[in-house]
Amino acid sequence: MAERNEPSATIEALMNEQRTFTPPLEFANQANINSPSIYTEGEDFENFWAKQAESLLWRKKWTQTLDWSNAPFAKWFIDGKLNVTESCLDRHLADNGDKVAYYFVGEPGDERAVTYRQLYEEVCQLANGLDSLGVAKGDRVAIYMGMVVELPIALLACARIGATHSVVFGGFSSDALMDRINDAEAKVLITCDESWRNGGKIALKGYADAAIAEAPSIEHVVVVKRTGSEVPMKEGRDIYYHDLIKGQPKERAATETDSEDPLFILYTSGTTGKPKGIVHTTGGYLLGSSYTHKAVFDIKDNDVYWCTADIGWVTGHSYIVYGPLANGTTSVLYEGVPNYPDEDRYWEIIEKYKVTQLYTAPTAIRTFMKWGTEFPERHDLSSLKLIGTVGEPINPEAWIWYNKYIGGEKAPIVDTWWQTETGHIMISPLPGVTTTKPGSATIPLPGIGADVVDEEGNSVPFGGGGYLVLTHPWPGMLRTIFKDPQRFADTYYGRFSKPEENHWVYFAGDGAKRDNDGYYWLLGRVDDVMNVSGHRISTLEVESALVDHPDVAEAAVVGRNDPITGQAIAAFVTLKGHVVGTEQLIAQLRNHVAEKIGKIARPASIVFTDELPKTRSGKIMRRLLKDISEQRKLGDVTTLANADVVHDIAARAAASTTSQED
Ligand code: WTA
Repeated sequence: MAERNEPSATIEALMNEQRTFTPPLEFANQANINSPSIYTEGEDFENFWAKQAESLLWRKKWTQTLDWSNAPFAKWFIDGKLNVTESCLDRHLADNGDKVAYYFVGEPGDERAVTYRQLYEEVCQLANGLDSLGVAKGDRVAIYMGMVVELPIALLACARIGATHSVVFGGFSSDALMDRINDAEAKVLITCDESWRNGGKIALKGYADAAIAEAPSIEHVVVVKRTGSEVPMKEGRDIYYHDLIKGQPKERAATETDSEDPLFILYTSGTTGKPKGIVHTTGGYLLGSSYTHKAVFDIKDNDVYWCTADIGWVTGHSYIVYGPLANGTTSVLYEGVPNYPDEDRYWEIIEKYKVTQLYTAPTAIRTFMKWGTEFPERHDLSSLKLIGTVGEPINPEAWIWYNKYIGGEKAPIVDTWWQTETGHIMISPLPGVTTTKPGSATIPLPGIGADVVDEEGNSVPFGGGGYLVLTHPWPGMLRTIFKDPQRFADTYYGRFSKPEENHWVYFAGDGAKRDNDGYYWLLGRVDDVMNVSGHRISTLEVESALVDHPDVAEAAVVGRNDPITGQAIAAFVTLKGHVVGTEQLIAQLRNHVAEKIGKIARPASIVFTDELPKTRSGKIMRRLLKDISEQRKLGDVTTLANADVVHDIAARAAASTTSQED
């Protein structure tokens, strides 16, 4: 394993988990997929995906399933023509126009049901509006919004005209938004006046204005009125969403796109300070997200499905927007936090809408555990047929709690492993087929190839651990990093591929073990990426935000284990000569990081130190800092140039343990 992120003691305990749960017979009998032969079928992965692709609406059928001749740059469904919105909207109108696409639940309590026809009409109106602003096929549109119905509408309106959307999570700061707009060279930004969050208002338009001041590519800003607060509108540049769509026709022909035209860019943290613009294309992505949505969540026509993610992350793209809409599913779209106005908000929503599938994050489950069972017990959750998790490893204790108190010991749990880059779920049970084990994402889905390899790239036999890799292309895979194909090839295909043998292996950045049954147990990142409440944050991003502060000389950041958030950000900072480390300065530095990146990246703890532990070649020894922040027995310090400093830091760190949560 790489030196920076070793499996912790908890993970070792996880491997001792022996309980198994076979799919209940009643569930298996009615499941969309209930024969294990699907796994054998998936071994011929090209034909498998070609067969599944019949489920999409193509304008022109493809002539070749996969072109891997220019590996690691894949093309799927060569010459296929489609517009994803025709699969997601148009084709449902005839029979299901009045079916609800989204039950919107606003945080303050306003609710609204949006049918497929209404969604279609408003997408067309906004597409016409974007046309009038000069957005054309191939242009980039940035989206920075709260979780309102206009958010999926914005994504789909871009897709309708063949523009590429780049959604930036509404919790990111102005600086983070600016970087992403500039990298994508977005022409238009769609935002909200404000968004509701935890009973308060987030000034999205204010942050957006600060970002655009340094983002010259933006020609227009479209503003959704959500809270109705007065916000500055710049004459000629800014227009309210409702004014833009007013009087626009409720039809807009879908622009034909190629299967390999870009659908969206989504920025994610990598191992450098600069976020990567992950590029997804059209046909393969829609196939992967819709197939896995139907298979993994066992979606039926009358279901009410709810994914609690934010559309600002990939989970929302694939499992709130594209997957569910392609399958004609009714979804809940909830705007706010789980504890507003009370800690039972999720359970109240599930009871009211008779939600059948819930898809949420382990960090949320651990928070619910902490709040106590009285909140779910206030409500009838018996409508839930299946429950799922994503974003980080789920500890067996949380899995068992989820099974008992939310799933009523009858709803299968799907623990789904995937990434922004993979576009859709890769490793997960099929709920009608696969026996589950608490804490394991089980095995790769049909049509997906995975392995666990050692440093040299050799497959590790069952029972051993190493690096998780994906062994062949899949439809929803990222195609490149925007404007940086070399970084794409190096990051994902540089480590274990053998180009001279035409052998291409995707390195996921995660460590994994496989037990004797071949089940995958995810061990977290092995690179410099932290996972805080399921959000990917790079240590380098936080370090550069800290060093950006005038008082800071040097900073090192590590992710330490945290019982609720998975990892918490621990920072070690050396100050410039004259500066004294005070409580106020800690608060200032945390704010500074929030301004540079967003609140999610604020360190949970900051320890001032006169020196950082370094090797003789000057490399900061982060593993040691991780040991210190997790208060483990210190690892080997003999290679340190400055061994004394470690004990000094350890003493200070012990005095400063806070939690990531606030
Ligand atoms: C982690 C989120 C264990 C993993 C869809 C991965 C998981 C990163 C799981 C991707 C899971 C996601 N079990 N770890 N079920 N799901 N991860 O890009 O480290 O935000 O590499 O995509 O989250 O995070 P991303």
